[in-house]
Amino acid sequence: MTNNKPINLLEYEVIAPQHLSQMALDYYASGAGDEVTLRSNRTAFEALKLRPRMLVDVSQRDLSTEILGEPVSMPILVAPMAFQCLAHPEGEIATAKAAAALGTVMILSTMSTKSLEEVAQVPQHTNQWFQLYIHRDRALTRALVERAEAARFTALCLTVDAPLLGSRERDRRNQFTLPSGMELANLATMADLKIPKTAGESGLLSYFAQQIDPGVTWRDVEWLHSLTSLPIVVKGILRGDDALRAVEYGAKAVIVSNHGGRQLDGAIATIDALPEIVAAVGDKGQVLIDGGIRRGTDILKALALGAKAVLLGRPVLWGLALQGEAGVHHVLQLLRDELELAMGLSGCASIQDIDSSLVKLRRIEIGL
Ligand code: GLV
Repeated sequence: MTNNKPINLLEYEVIAPQHLSQMALDYYASGAGDEVTLRSNRTAFEALKLRPRMLVDVSQRDLSTEILGEPVSMPILVAPMAFQCLAHPEGEIATAKAAAALGTVMILSTMSTKSLEEVAQVPQHTNQWFQLYIHRDRALTRALVERAEAARFTALCLTVDAPLLGSRERDRRNQFTLPSGMELANLATMADLKIPKTAGESGLLSYFAQQIDPGVTWRDVEWLHSLTSLPIVVKGILRGDDALRAVEYGAKAVIVSNHGGRQLDGAIATIDALPEIVAAVGDKGQVLIDGGIRRGTDILKALALGAKAVLLGRPVLWGLALQGEAGVHHVLQLLRDELELAMGLSGCASIQDIDSSLVKLRRIEIGL
């Protein structure tokens, strides 16, 4: 290690481009359209102010919590992200190893470049979730669910914000596709599915148009329940009524997400959507959040507003690009350390001590 080792997630973001092809960097970094939502995920966190509590004994700080009834060492999970071999040859395996070493959950994407069976074999992991895209081919979708269950994934994370792929113009410009030798590891063997090379368009956008079912509705959540006994987590919720519906349809948790600003540009920042969703769900399920989390204080704010945990996305890829498993481990450790400090400085010795009084709501949010 040199003295140039990044000391925060934003520095990872600055250095990562040196370690990625232009196509990979653009794919990971970009948002949809004008990237307004991508930016507002960050600015909304920055606009929230903390109200720290003083003279509390914080000599011991405990970050452990439980998600879906299972213990995790910290309220930071690894978000599902596609094509991780674009960042590092070990791809999703390296990410899974780092998450396991830190005692937290990795969510594996349907679109992974290592197969779910390979990732499930990572030693010491006890808790991996599988992210699902419902394909038009329902037999294939069912087979994916059965494989995830057989490989002992502990939950299914159904992404609901991508009936069609958002328009990421950098990918369109690059005619995004996977380099030769890299494949959709879960799908290539089942149905010979590939990311096409499409003239003037992102190959992933073409893949979605051809393969992903844009007709998915709440009835399909029931269908999923009929296929599996795994808990279902619905990812991509931005409204209280949808969140309530998700738990009424049996979801054990919802993830407040705008897909990292990669789907509907102009969609609300996730931290701004969170209070409505927490209020709607109440004690009927758990609420997680992703989008723009770069600092321990962001996590403190999210938990203060009622999230049970956060998912970390792009910074994991930057760590992976720099240094494989060790890079992901370092990124997660940096964020964990920042959260621990933020808790200590705001009078919270444990996750249970984080409450809504820590966040000064903006006037508009309290209806003044
Ligand atoms: C895939 O899910 C993506 O957002 O690129």
